[in-house]
Amino acid sequence: MNVAIIGCGYVGTAIARQLSDLSYLVTATTTTLERVTELQAVAQRVLVATGDNKTSLLAALENQDAVIVTIAPTGNEQVDEDGYKATYLHTAKNLVGILQQMPTVKHLIYTGSCGVYGNRNGEWVNEESSVVLDNEYAKILHDTEKILLAASSLNLKVSILRLGAIYGYGREIGKRFSKLAGTTRPGNGEYFTNWIHLDDIVSAVNFALTYELQGIYNVVNDTPLTISEMLDRVCEMNHLPLVEWDASLPRNKTNNQRVSNQKLKELGYKLIHPETEI
Ligand SMILES: NC(=O)c1ccc[n+]([C@@H]2O[C@H](COP(=O)([O-])OP(=O)(O)OC[C@H]3O[C@@H](n4cnc5c(N)ncnc54)[C@H](OP(=O)(O)O)[C@@H]3O)[C@@H](O)[C@H]2O)c1
Repeated sequence: MNVAIIGCGYVGTAIARQLSDLSYLVTATTTTLERVTELQAVAQRVLVATGDNKTSLLAALENQDAVIVTIAPTGNEQVDEDGYKATYLHTAKNLVGILQQMPTVKHLIYTGSCGVYGNRNGEWVNEESSVVLDNEYAKILHDTEKILLAASSLNLKVSILRLGAIYGYGREIGKRFSKLAGTTRPGNGEYFTNWIHLDDIVSAVNFALTYELQGIYNVVNDTPLTISEMLDRVCEMNHLPLVEWDASLPRNKTNNQRVSNQKLKELGYKLIHPETEI
C-alpha cells in the first residue's frame, strides 16, 4: 500500500517509521530541503512540498492509496493567525482540490487538535460535543476539519483524529516543565490538561488506516490531569520545590476540559500509555 505523509515532523516521522516497518511504501514531505536526508531513513520517497504549492502536493499524492496529514506551523515560535491559516487552511483546500483528481486515494487521515472543544470549565467532552471557537486559532483548526470532512465520499474515507497535547521521546513532560519548579503561577492550577503519547498517536493512525475509520475521533489518554497535579508530579519526581499558585494574579484564558476517548476504545483501540507519564 502506498501512503503519503504530508508534513513529516515529530508525529509524521514516527508514523513514517512504523508504516515503513510494516512494509507500506511511504512518501514523506517536508518544507525543508535540509531534512530530506533524515527523512530518507524512514520513507521510500521524500519530497519537498508546501501546502500552497499545488504542483508539489500533486507529486506527493500521485498513485497513493492513503494520505496522512500531520502538518503544523514550522519552528518553535508561536505563529500569527496568517501563518496558521497558510499552514492548515491553504494546505487543506489544495489537498481537497487535488484529491478530486486522484481516485486511487481511498483514505485521508488528519491529526487535528482537541483545542476545538475550548473552555468547558472542566466538563467531559466527546466527539458529539459542540466546539467552542473563542479564538482565531481554534476557528482555523475547525475550518480545516470541515474542509477535509467535506471531501469524504463513497470513494474517500476521511478520519479526523483530534489529538491531546503531545508528549514522548524528545518531548518528555518532566524535562519540559521542571523549569517551572519553585515559581509562582497565576490562577489556582485547577484546569485540566489532556495528553497523548507519541506511541499512541502512531498506533491510533495505524488503527484508523487498518479499520478505515470515518469521522471524528479523540486521541487522548485515560487520565486528564489538572495542571497543578501535573506540575506537582514533575517537581516531586525531580526532587524540586513545588509550584505555588496565586489566584489574584491575572492569567491567560486556558482551555479547561476533560476529553473522552471512549469512541475510539469502543472500536477496540487499546492505549499503549493510558496514564500520563511524567
Ligand atoms: N504539539 C501538540 O501538542 C499538538 C496538540 C494537538 C494536535 N497537534 C497536531 O499534531 C500534528 C503534528 O504535530 P507535530 O508536533 O508533529 O508538528 P511538527 O513537528 O512541527 O511538524 C509539522 C510538519 O508540517 C510541515 N509543514 C509546516 N508548514 C507546512 C506547510 N505550509 N505546508 C506543508 N507542510 C508544512 C513541517 O515541515 P518541515 O519538515 O519543513 O518542518 C513539518 O514536517 C499537527 O497536525 C498538529 O496540529 C499537535
